[in-house]
Amino acid sequence: MPTPFDPAEIPALRQSHYNATLVDLRFCHDDLAFFRILPDHPVGPWKPGQFCTIGLGGWEPRAPNTQPESLDDVHCRLLIRRAYSISAPILTPTGAVAPPYLDPVLEFYITLVRRNHGPPPALTPRLFSLQPGDRLHLAEKIAGHYTLAPMASTDTVLFFATGTGEAPHNAMTAELLARGHTGPIVSAVCVRNQIDLGYLETHRELERRFPNYHYLVATTRDPINLDPSVSGYVGKMYLQDLVRQGVVESAIGHPLEPSTSHAYLCGNPQMIGIPETSHGEPPRFPQSLGMVELLSQRGFTLGDRHTAGNIHFEKYW
Ligand SMILES: Cc1cc2nc3c(=O)[nH]c(=O)nc-3n(C[C@H](O)[C@H](O)[C@H](O)COP(=O)(O)OP(=O)(O)OC[C@H]3O[C@@H](n4cnc5c(N)ncnc54)[C@H](O)[C@@H]3O)c2cc1C
Ligand SMILES: NC(=O)c1ccc[n+]([C@@H]2O[C@H](COP(=O)([O-])OP(=O)(O)OC[C@H]3O[C@@H](n4cnc5c(N)ncnc54)[C@H](OP(=O)(O)O)[C@@H]3O)[C@@H](O)[C@H]2O)c1
Repeated sequence: MPTPFDPAEIPALRQSHYNATLVDLRFCHDDLAFFRILPDHPVGPWKPGQFCTIGLGGWEPRAPNTQPESLDDVHCRLLIRRAYSISAPILTPTGAVAPPYLDPVLEFYITLVRRNHGPPPALTPRLFSLQPGDRLHLAEKIAGHYTLAPMASTDTVLFFATGTGEAPHNAMTAELLARGHTGPIVSAVCVRNQIDLGYLETHRELERRFPNYHYLVATTRDPINLDPSVSGYVGKMYLQDLVRQGVVESAIGHPLEPSTSHAYLCGNPQMIGIPETSHGEPPRFPQSLGMVELLSQRGFTLGDRHTAGNIHFEKYW
């Protein structure tokens, strides 16, 4: 039997598990924030689009108004870890576009999950209790295959994200713009409400500076989505609607051309809509139309272990 957990153990637990400092924390609103973390260790080489694991101890407090949780004496003493895509401010404080891996501080864009249908969300209620200067755990290894494919500088790059799924796209956008990509770059994001667009101003600034860059927004729960009597009412807009209604093609100025395009999908698995595949059988798509099926209908292909396709995805759960 483990000994009962004693809060006096906390300083030693933090000392032995934590290896990074939260140097900056900025809230877009109560449930959405930028976390900037400086690891004690040098950050090894990493590619835009990759993720890193953040950890906090089960002993840390949870933010108010989050689903209650009760941990036993073993779990109270363990680290809780979750994967987070590395995001990027894209523009440096002097206004330059810089590749994100030059910054020793890693930026993360995280939403607070207050409640869950299954077990209570474990990490975000603790992350949203932190203050700048607090310590935490950051895995030394940066990992993931959701990175920019080899491409010509004139190719079209299409990023589609729900919510904080834009994080890896910001890092990839910084890389593309910094290396002088001249083909169209579209970053499309679907959020519940306009206030969930934490990087909106940065993207608008990029649009002013780079004629090939386009930031497209779809909301689903604002008055323009829900109330037909509101001026500008558009109904609920998903990323799928931006493609079906030709909004993406209008932004790039020509029809989608799969042979010179790369599509990146990140966030909510239902938006992505990954098909089930078995050898020799056609893919079986989920009932509700996801982006993989829609782009497949337009001639894009999902890669597998043997062939590189031009649809890439990262699902967050
Ligand atoms: C490769 C990878 C990269 C990720 N990058 C990010 C990121 O950059 N920013 C980020 O906020 N999250 C990201 N996530 C999700 C993250 O790992 C956690 O799952 C999330 O922060 C919730 O953690 P939790 O312990 O509080 O709840 P969990 O128990 O992990 O999740 C509970 C439920 O919350 C919902 N959920 C989880 N993540 C999100 C999300 N991002 N947006 C909306 N609903 C969600 C799902 O329904 C999930 O089942 C990523 C996940 C993966 C696999
Ligand atoms: N204002 C708030 O209270 C608030 C704001 C942000 C986040 N949160 C919390 O953060 C967590 C994550 O929320 P989130 O909004 O970032 O992520 P999310 O729930 O994944 O939603 C992001 C966007 O994806 C849309 N979407 C859902 N299913 C889709 C599908 N099949 N195809 C295409 N798009 C689809 C959502 O539309 P729908 O409207 O149809 O779901 C929403 O606009 C939640 O637990 C929530 O509690 C709360």
